[in-house]
Amino acid sequence: MFQITKKYPLNQDVDALWVLAPFISLNAKPGHFIILRSKDESERIPLTIVDVKDEQILLIVQKVGYSTEELCTLNEGDFILDLVGPLGQAIVVKNVKRLLAVAGGVGAAPLLPQVKEYAAQGTKVDLLIGAKTEDHLILLDEFSHYCRNIYIYTDDGSKGQKGFVTKDINEILQKNSYDHAIVIGPVVMMKSASQITLKHNISTDVSLNPIMIDGTGMCGNCRVSINGKTYFACVDGPDFNAEGIDFDELIARQKYYEKEEHQCRLGLNNR
Ligand code: FES
Repeated sequence: MFQITKKYPLNQDVDALWVLAPFISLNAKPGHFIILRSKDESERIPLTIVDVKDEQILLIVQKVGYSTEELCTLNEGDFILDLVGPLGQAIVVKNVKRLLAVAGGVGAAPLLPQVKEYAAQGTKVDLLIGAKTEDHLILLDEFSHYCRNIYIYTDDGSKGQKGFVTKDINEILQKNSYDHAIVIGPVVMMKSASQITLKHNISTDVSLNPIMIDGTGMCGNCRVSINGKTYFACVDGPDFNAEGIDFDELIARQKYYEKEEHQCRLGLNNR
């Protein structure tokens, strides 16, 4: 059993949970995730370890379905039934001088520990961060400790520039030089952003945790083809070099699962 020591909302859809997990906090590195089950009958949920402090780990949860909503009904002092980790492969921090980091929506959560690690080794980090509205932008204060410049985008223009986070990447890359990029967000956004950075010959990492479902290597949803070879995001990743990733395959599979889930909710699926 793992106790929630602190809980606070980042916005109406996203909660932050600090959870007491001494062994995991001791061994966690950027890129690692945990899998948890809130209660006996609950589904498994994979979540990135966003931060560690005083034997606790920080999890950021977007309420996108039954399981994540169930998790967020737990309060400070309550216990999560099972929690295992750290899982996945930690990132390999490259020895680079200038990094371009790009976050879309809750992709900011897995990006933060990576940015922190690069900043700690002296890399200068510029961040592009985008979300639907000002309210949906998360972790801006935290990023401000580690980033030299922060460019903000919202779909409705409520903060920063109006438009997608990918809007100015081309222009920014023409004006500045970077040695490496990390892009984390929805799969479509990672596809578009990495197409631009790769065109500028900047090595680019993406995190494929948005395509993970159970995080155990069993459901198969996080299968990814990279240069014709098959990998699993929850076992071999979740972070990969973007070059050669078949993003269209991932997008098609995500659509299929979304349709299946929708049909299950409507009771149209007799599996
Ligand atoms: Fe199910 Fe990786 S998340 S196999």
